[in-house]
This record gives sequence, C-alpha cells and structure tokens, in this order.
Amino acid sequence: MATMTGSPSNSSPVSVLFVCLGNICRSPMAEGVFRHMTKHDLPGANPVIKSVDSCGTGAYHEGESPDPRTMAVLKDHGITSDYYMHAARKFNYSDFVDFDFIFAMDDANYMYLEEARKRLIKKGELTEATAGKVMLFGTYGKKGKEEVIDPYYGGRNGFEIAYDQMVRFSAGFLKQLEARNKE
Ligand code: 4NP
Repeated sequence: MATMTGSPSNSSPVSVLFVCLGNICRSPMAEGVFRHMTKHDLPGANPVIKSVDSCGTGAYHEGESPDPRTMAVLKDHGITSDYYMHAARKFNYSDFVDFDFIFAMDDANYMYLEEARKRLIKKGELTEATAGKVMLFGTYGKKGKEEVIDPYYGGRNGFEIAYDQMVRFSAGFLKQLEARNKE
C-alpha cells in the first residue's frame, strides 16, 4: 500500500494532478475517471477532493483535445465529453505548488517529475513542505508498482487496459485518502 508520508496530514481537501507524456491519452483518461468517481464539480461531490487536472511532460499536443480513443472508451463507461472537457498542456513548475498529489503514469514521467522536484528544492525554489508529492499512480495497483503503458501507437485494447487501471488506482487512492481523513 502506498504511504502518504509527506502529504497533507490533516483532513483538508486535496488537489490532484495526473501526468503522462502527451496529455492526450492516459492522463486525460485518469482525470475523466477520477472526476467521475468523485463527482467532481457536481452535486454530491466527494469533499476530500479540491481540484483535479492533467498535463503532459511534453508539449507536442498543447491545446489539443484528448485522443478520440480515450474519449470513446470513457463514453462507453458512461463518462461523456459534456461532463469532461480538456485541452492538453505541458507540466509547469508552478504545478508543484498548486497540487498536493502529482501522479505519473509511467516510470519515465515519474523520473522527469521527481528530478525536476529535487532540482528545484536544491535551488531553493521549492521546499519539501510546499512541493506536491510525486508518485507513480500505479503505486495503488498490483504489487504496488504498475505502469500505465502508453497506448498511443496501439489499438483500442490498450485504452481499455488503461481505463481499467485508472479505475483501480483511483479507488485505491480514494480509499487511503478517506481512511487518512477518519484518523
Ligand atoms: P499520452 O500518449 O502520453 O498517454 O498522452 C502519447 C500521446 C502522443 C505521443 C506520445 C504519447 N506522441 O509521441 O505524440
């Protein structure tokens, strides 16, 4: 089970950022699933969540809508573009301050974020206390370390696998967050 050491220790609502490479396939899917599961910005919204967003470590697709295969898989599971809209954007260093939990989809995304975080702390531009916690989202998966494989160059099946992972990881994270808030 993932540890929440270093995360906000009281029951204040948290902000969550999902990060992949292009911000058109995996992280928008994670964002759509997570928003749906927490009813974010809707009546009956889960009070433990303050804000939800996604971005990419690369800027290749800046401003673009999510990949049609991401939206099709979300739609097949009842998550529609009426409810969830997104324009791709690149990760910004200010995201370390704006988000409590920064979830990387794979090891490469994780390394990018963790190295940037360490570098900024070393330069004195961030502190351990103010910087969001960087984690592999698949920390909440099987064996505590599951990457979401980039489905961009494959078929629809890769997007279905990613969807299943997003649901499992989101449920694991929310369960732990809610348990923490009851302490
Ligand atoms: P994502 O997938 O990181 O899940 O959004 C990708 C989308 C586009 C590219 C790579 C990965 N690309 O190289 O353009």
